[in-house]
Amino acid sequence: MSLKPSTLSQADTIIAQYPQKRSATMPLLHLVQEDRGFITQEDMAWVAEKVGVTPIQVLEVVTFYPMFRQQAIGRRHVKVCRTLSCALRGSYALMESLEKSLNCPRGETSADGNFTLEFVECIADCGCGPVVQVDHALHENIAPEKAAEFAEQIKNSLKDSNYGKNQPQPGTPEWNG
Ligand code: FES
Repeated sequence: MSLKPSTLSQADTIIAQYPQKRSATMPLLHLVQEDRGFITQEDMAWVAEKVGVTPIQVLEVVTFYPMFRQQAIGRRHVKVCRTLSCALRGSYALMESLEKSLNCPRGETSADGNFTLEFVECIADCGCGPVVQVDHALHENIAPEKAAEFAEQIKNSLKDSNYGKNQPQPGTPEWNG
């Protein structure tokens, strides 16, 4: 099923943390998605067997939660918060500008495969909106008029193989946007 050996070995450690194996369903799905980028039917069957449920029960979880994906995404996953605080500070105008600058319609992946651009609900950083999460990197205060400059920053990040792999640290460019 072509998951990394480290993913396969972590699965048993995760399952052992729960009194009931089925409670590990979502953590295992996150693990698979982190490894492959999305979740295949084969992955769901594997998770089902590991936690002792049926594949259809795992599919129900995957299709219920919007953060689980069944298709590949772009090299950078760009998520713009559209909930109230960010919306009031311009996240809809920001999205329109990013669609043009990244040449990627919202909800889709760009033709070159570099970007997937999505609106998401609150990502818990409401005082610093508009907030954009790119992979694991959080960018605050991305006003609509900064969109073109921010898009260039994201394009440049394609050259950095470590970009967005870790949670951002206060004071770093990824934290400050
Ligand atoms: S409303 Fe955007 S982070 Fe909460």
